[in-house]
Amino acid sequence: MGVFKFTQAHDLEVNVLINNAGFGDSGKFAECNWQKQYEMVQVDITALMQLTFCFLPGMIERKHGKILNLSSVAAFCAGPGMSVYYASKAFVRSFSEAVAEEVKGSGVTVTALCPGPTATGFEVAADMGNGSKMFKKAAKPEDVAKAGIRALRLGKVLCYQGTFTKCMSFLSRLVPRSVTRKYAGKMDNT
Ligand SMILES: NC(=O)c1ccc[n+]([C@@H]2O[C@H](COP(=O)([O-])OP(=O)(O)OC[C@H]3O[C@@H](n4cnc5c(N)ncnc54)[C@H](OP(=O)(O)O)[C@@H]3O)[C@@H](O)[C@H]2O)c1
Repeated sequence: MGVFKFTQAHDLEVNVLINNAGFGDSGKFAECNWQKQYEMVQVDITALMQLTFCFLPGMIERKHGKILNLSSVAAFCAGPGMSVYYASKAFVRSFSEAVAEEVKGSGVTVTALCPGPTATGFEVAADMGNGSKMFKKAAKPEDVAKAGIRALRLGKVLCYQGTFTKCMSFLSRLVPRSVTRKYAGKMDNT
């Protein structure tokens, strides 16, 4: 991978890795743009996994390192109308949690940051339009970034940023998935 090879060629020690790049797409899966879904998986899942794979062994060897992976409130349930994106963020959360447990006690930590809707360019890139209810009270990007860095410093495994995300995380453990997926579909598409 280019970034990893570059750091090796320049003898750069990477002790903090933040896997932030990601995008979504909206619409029914049967009617989707296949290329966009494919690229989403490459960026949201494959690149994150590969960068972690490249940099993690060096961190473990040095007994020092921190990885922050961008998951989302979308990781808590299935997302009709954004099926691939929700599934990719569920992957990121599960993968991060599992690797965090594997490296426990090694001096390396892995954190999954799960923000709710945030006022960035995400909505536009995901073709959600301006009408999505989810983005009516979007968080400020700087608040999300601060929460992520704080969690990374503390070595927390999961960070739910904002009241909305904390409530959704709690409710998703109580409410049946048949209900959460209906709710998620309505929130994203109205
Ligand atoms: N905004 C939200 O509501 C929200 C909520 C939860 C989680 N997240 C997650 O937060 C992360 C950042 O998203 P954002 O909200 O800041 O959205 P954004 O403003 O659209 O930024 C997306 C980021 O991903 C990069 N990116 C997109 N496509 C790429 C590609 N094909 N190859 C390499 N880099 C690519 C972009 O790089 P360039 O700047 O070079 O284009 C940019 O840095 C994502 O993982 C997203 O899933 C966002």
